[in-house]
Amino acid sequence: MNKRLKQNIYIFIIMILALSLFIITFNTDADLYSMIFSLDIDNPINIYSVLFWTLLAIIAETFLIISPSSGVATSVAPAIYIYIMIVSNPFIVMIVALIGSILRFPEYDGERKHIFNTKKSTTFFNAANLTLTFGICAWIVNLRNSFGDNNYIVIGLLSVIGLLVAEFVNFILVSILIRITQGVQAIHIFRSMIKTFPSTIAIGMLGIFLVFVHNEYEMIIILIFFIPLLLARYSFKLYFESQRMALDTIHALNEALHAKDAYTGGHTGRVEQYSVNLAKAYGLSYSDVEIIRTAALLHDIGKIGIPDEILNKPGRLTRSEFELIQEHSTIGAKILGNVNSLKKVSNIIVQHHERYDGSGYPNGLKENEISIEAAILMISDSYDAMTTDRPYRNALTKTKAISELEKCSGTQFNPVLARVFIDGVLSKEESHNEKLNKEEFSDKNILIKTKEIVEANSDLPQDIMKVGTKI
Ligand SMILES: [Fe+2]
Repeated sequence: MNKRLKQNIYIFIIMILALSLFIITFNTDADLYSMIFSLDIDNPINIYSVLFWTLLAIIAETFLIISPSSGVATSVAPAIYIYIMIVSNPFIVMIVALIGSILRFPEYDGERKHIFNTKKSTTFFNAANLTLTFGICAWIVNLRNSFGDNNYIVIGLLSVIGLLVAEFVNFILVSILIRITQGVQAIHIFRSMIKTFPSTIAIGMLGIFLVFVHNEYEMIIILIFFIPLLLARYSFKLYFESQRMALDTIHALNEALHAKDAYTGGHTGRVEQYSVNLAKAYGLSYSDVEIIRTAALLHDIGKIGIPDEILNKPGRLTRSEFELIQEHSTIGAKILGNVNSLKKVSNIIVQHHERYDGSGYPNGLKENEISIEAAILMISDSYDAMTTDRPYRNALTKTKAISELEKCSGTQFNPVLARVFIDGVLSKEESHNEKLNKEEFSDKNILIKTKEIVEANSDLPQDIMKVGTKI
């Protein structure tokens, strides 16, 4: 079965689940139909209030904030849904969430995404996902009726529990989709989910506050609360735009480096492959492997600050020239340090020439003072440098390079990692030799890869995340 078919079957199953919850929820209240279409404004639920809530949902779903580093979108929509859950019932929430997800038109990369320019499978998945997760959340919040005299504390607690469960369901649904479409574990989404717990609680509280406003004042007053929210969103947007610009600049610098130093392009790709293989063989987690991949692709970006005549000098470097070249790890870390999402990568890059015995640069760190990620990069970088022809010397054979690794194990290289690299990566390399064919790492391929990684969306289904709501 191909991926697309599997994906479509999966989305169909989610839609069936959402529909089932719709039917079960509808059947729990026989008067729902007459309530929703009631024209009597004295009824707590009537056609005007349902239309008003739908409008709120569309506005909240439209003004998403999409993080450039994770591609994850956040919005205040969950607060709106919590509010609707409390003042109406689960069925209305599901209807409002469904319409909100279909009619929203968020901006991404300067383009408004709406139902007519979004893939049908994306729209179906997002609509079913949102309806299902908030339907479940609404059922949990509805448990307040079992507590008799329900006060704001009971409602608040149930709202937060409901949102956390909804977030977990959302994580499961998106993870399975990623597993189907990309064949990878989506544990990194789980981590980002855990990080959003405080904001989940804040959003739950905001929902309760809207209920308070609804009960104490005219419903229309709720619109006023969108003004500070939109201002806050504008500030976030400016911040994210500055981060996006910084990422674009780094990408451009990396491209410029590959253009001025022909060796770097192919070298970068091979170092990436060695580093990823070593990180996996050592047993690092998926997200750590991805951080190492990014660090490998950008590890020499600081060379952009080194004069061409030194970078491409055919003979041996003088002491002062070598000292200048050594600055590239600090320059690279400074360039990446401007972007919050690349802080970890920046910390790896600044250490990628530190040696196990403390004789490396720039800080002379040793043994466990050097991060495992930087030590991995050091081995991959050195091994590729040894096995590649340079203007001033010929490439070493694989056997000679391995004996160099062994010889420098415990001085230049972390001895444990060096052993894993020789036994767990290089020994298996023979059978996969074609994969390390140098043509595969042409400059063009590397640039495409780097761009994908730098944009940090490569491990998420873009169409889902770009227009999907991370609740
Ligand atoms: Fe380097």
